[in-house]
Amino acid sequence: MENGTRYGRGFTLWFTGLSGAGKTTIAEIVEHELRERQGGIEVLDGDIVRTNLSKGLGFSREDRDTNVLRIGFVADLLTRNGVGVIVSAISPFRAVRDQVRREIGEDFIEVFVDAPLEVCAERDVKGLYAKAYSGEIPQFTGVSDPYEAPTSPELHIKTNEEEPAESARRVIEYLEQLGYVRPARVFDRA
Ligand code: ADX
Repeated sequence: MENGTRYGRGFTLWFTGLSGAGKTTIAEIVEHELRERQGGIEVLDGDIVRTNLSKGLGFSREDRDTNVLRIGFVADLLTRNGVGVIVSAISPFRAVRDQVRREIGEDFIEVFVDAPLEVCAERDVKGLYAKAYSGEIPQFTGVSDPYEAPTSPELHIKTNEEEPAESARRVIEYLEQLGYVRPARVFDRA
């Protein structure tokens, strides 16, 4: 630690929320901004993890929990070694999110990426909500499967009320406040 801050310490920024709420969009902006400032940033995105580490897992509660615990396991290893980890996964079940929180400890930062279901369904970026409502995709989070919202996330972002860049800025400011990230130099700011 430097000057009593957490600079150089690892952290896990855990974005949870419905499909289409904006997790990946915000995570990408945050990733880009953090990489500009420091090394040792890594991303674990549910969609990508499901093509490798969690390949073959489905969307039963058990499989989702396994997926989330795997992501949490890797995030913990990285965090302990000074990496800034950005996770985006629906991670719909509170108990397993809290389990990961306990494993990672104080360096776990839960970010609730919140948008009303109707807004996510209206956006339907991947065309999955239409399929979920028609029954073509079963057990779809928010439609035919639960989403348990965080009860006390470190950050609560309402993506139907602000632009992704603004949300990302708030995330970075939070990291700055905690001392994980150095504030951008004044002349770097737009
Ligand atoms: S989690 O529930 O295990 O955390 P994860 O974030 O890895 O989910 O993957 C969610 C992605 O899988 C969604 O963004 C969507 O593209 C796709 N998907 C396919 N089937 C489902 C489903 N039944 N429920 C939610 N997402 C699904």
